This record gives sequence, structure tokens and C-alpha cells, in this order.
Amino acid sequence: MGRPTADSPIWDRSGADKRSAVNAMFADIAGNYDALNRMMSLNQDTRWRAIAAAKVAPKPGEVALDLCAGTGDFMPHLLKAVGSTGAVIGMDFCVPMLEQASKKSLPNLAQGDAVQLPLQSAAVDVVTVGWGIRNVPDIDAAHQEIFRVLRPGGRFVSLDMAIPRNPVIRSGSRFVSKHILPRLGARFGAQTAYTYLPESTERFWSRDALADSMRKAGFVDVDFADLMFGNICLHFGRKK
Ligand SMILES: C[S@@+](CC[C@H](N)C(=O)[O-])C[C@H]1O[C@@H](n2cnc3c(N)ncnc32)[C@H](O)[C@@H]1O
Repeated sequence: MGRPTADSPIWDRSGADKRSAVNAMFADIAGNYDALNRMMSLNQDTRWRAIAAAKVAPKPGEVALDLCAGTGDFMPHLLKAVGSTGAVIGMDFCVPMLEQASKKSLPNLAQGDAVQLPLQSAAVDVVTVGWGIRNVPDIDAAHQEIFRVLRPGGRFVSLDMAIPRNPVIRSGSRFVSKHILPRLGARFGAQTAYTYLPESTERFWSRDALADSMRKAGFVDVDFADLMFGNICLHFGRKK
């Protein structure tokens, strides 16, 4: 097998090449992202974000960063929790996704890359990432950046796709994600994105590898929990 090139599918790319291809892919589907998300998740995505937000339990007055914020759907959960005395920053590297978020009148939207956050160290109390870490070429570097911007006592949760551990569920999920999702995506002009989803999930780090990367970055009390029969997994940890 040769080295991945700019002609390779996105899921086989790495480094800066993956970064720009992922950015372009989300720019392409930004206008349809929310509708596709609701449909593909059978309207469960809002509930999953609420569960993830509860894991990091933002308190009134705290500062929360929603990284890889996309169209901003994590932010209302955080805004409600931190209240009028706190603040929520929504950060993403893809401008068209942030433009969709700005239509929802969300505050503090900013462009930034997960591996080089334009924030001071120890500036936030909570970081959430929804379906973002899988897309970042250097996951270790992203975990290190998230750790850097958290204050001592800060909490981090990442919600992403996973491979179900039960073999029967795993083969059913593989069938749906490889044969049904790309066809549904194609109807909305998003075949690449919904082929990328299962392909990148197959290549994504295991639950244990993600937890190890978080520990290596400095997080303590690292753990994970499955949702949707193991098709989704939450990773969480704390900065001591
Ligand atoms: C699947 S969307 C998730 C959006 C949102 N978090 C949600 O819950 O619906 C993934 C987002 O991650 C962003 N993203 C991917 N790689 C990134 C990076 N290196 N830095 C910042 N954002 C990134 C993409 O632009 C996209 O908006």
C-alpha cells in the first residue's frame, strides 16, 4: 500500500492533508448538517449532547469551551448551565459551520484549530467536544491543548462514534453505516461525508487508546461510557 496522497480518500489521509480535506468536507455540508444529524441519529443527538454536558457539570459562573463546535448545538446545554454570570466559547476551524452557528444567535463564536487553540493556558473550566476528535489528525496534540487551556479542577468530555463491542450489534451497525448512511447522505448531496463517517469510525482509536492519550496529556480520573449500544462513546477526564 502506497503513502496516502491528496488523491486518497479523506479517511486515508493524515497531517495537514487530512486537516484541509476535513475542513472542506464540513464546509460543503454546513447548510445541511443539522438536518442530516437529526435524521441519521434518529433525533437522538440532542439527548447525547445533554448526557455529555452533564458529565462535566458546568456550574453557574464558569467558562466553557465547546471545541469543534460546528453549528453550535452543544452550546445551549452549556449556556443554560453556566448562566448569565458564566461564558461559553464555541470554537471550530471551519468558517461555514460557524456561520450556521451564528444564525442561531450564539455568543462567542471563534475560529480556531484543536491542536493550536488561540486561548491562554488555564483559561476555561470545562471543554466539550462533540464528534470532533476523530477528525483531528493529531489526537495526542489536541488532548494536550485541551489540557493546557483547562484550569486546575477543569473537566473535559468528548463524545464520538465508536465500534460496538457486542459482535451482533457490531455487524448490524456496520451494515447500516456502510450501506444505508452513504445512500441517505447522497440524497442530500453529502455522500462523501456519510461515507467518511463509517470509514473514519473504523479507523478511529479504540476506547482504551483514547483514554491512554488523555492520561498521557495529564488528565486524571479518565473513564469512558457507551451510548446507543456502543455506537457512541463518551470519554471524560479531569485536570488535577
Ligand atoms: C461532526 S462535526 C460536529 C459539530 C458539533 N460538535 C456537533 O456536536 O454537532 C465536527 C466538527 O469538527 C470540526 N473540526 C474538525 N477538525 C477540527 C480541528 N482540527 N480544529 C477545529 N475544528 C475541527 C469540523 O469543522 C466540524 O465542524
